[in-house]
Amino acid sequence: MSCGAVVPAAGRGQRLGGRDKALVPLAGRPALAWVLEALDRSGVIDTVVVVTNQANCAAVEALCSSLGLTVPVRIVLGGAERALSVRAGVEALEPNRRFVLVHDAARPLVTPELIRRAVEAVQRHGAVVAAVPVVDTIKQVALDGRVVTTPDRASLVAAQTPQVFRLDWLHEAYRRVGTGLAAATDEAVLLERAGFPVYVFPGDPENLKVTTPLDVTLAEFLLERRRRG
Ligand code: CTP
Ligand code: MG
Repeated sequence: MSCGAVVPAAGRGQRLGGRDKALVPLAGRPALAWVLEALDRSGVIDTVVVVTNQANCAAVEALCSSLGLTVPVRIVLGGAERALSVRAGVEALEPNRRFVLVHDAARPLVTPELIRRAVEAVQRHGAVVAAVPVVDTIKQVALDGRVVTTPDRASLVAAQTPQVFRLDWLHEAYRRVGTGLAAATDEAVLLERAGFPVYVFPGDPENLKVTTPLDVTLAEFLLERRRRG
């Protein structure tokens, strides 16, 4: 199989009032712990690289060794933007492996099943992104608030992680992107720009990204419910 995983966890959680999302306790354990357990239990990941920052490095190391995971975990330092952190993680993987899965530490509701679905989909397409239908009508607006256009909702989806790519394609996308990397909000857009076909597969509406205090409340509720079975 040969699928490595990169878990970006080096953010600062500004929209959460500067609380570190990777380490924020949710239903009794840090978000990062929920993510690492799901990756470990999926059975399709053979190594994990966690990307952290200087301030949390020791805490992340302690957490990783306390979990008793089967899969080996390495820890590297990230960059100022998410895309730079992910690239630092990708560079820590052996270049000859076939696939890399990227999953945000801030999405603790990922399941082993969703991870297996992702790794299955990438064998067919080479580059895949979990996505869910958009429920709101999306407006593109100008800086002054005036609506510019309303894209047809039927053609819109919301992209999540996991995202999984052929590692050689991702390396090629990194080579071509130049200085635009820091602004990329996911890895799929880099492959899209490089001309590689990227496909979506069904994500999970519960797989929310913990971004605001409201998300903490929701994630806590959902994880608690899951823990009780
Ligand atoms: N991330 C990262 N390195 C960065 C920025 C973000 O590894 N320089 C990670 C976060 O830790 C998170 C994921 O990327 O797991 C998604 O990013 P986001 O939700 O934006 O998290 P933060 O950047 O921490 O939050 P905010 O933007 O509110 O500061
Ligand atoms: Mg951010």
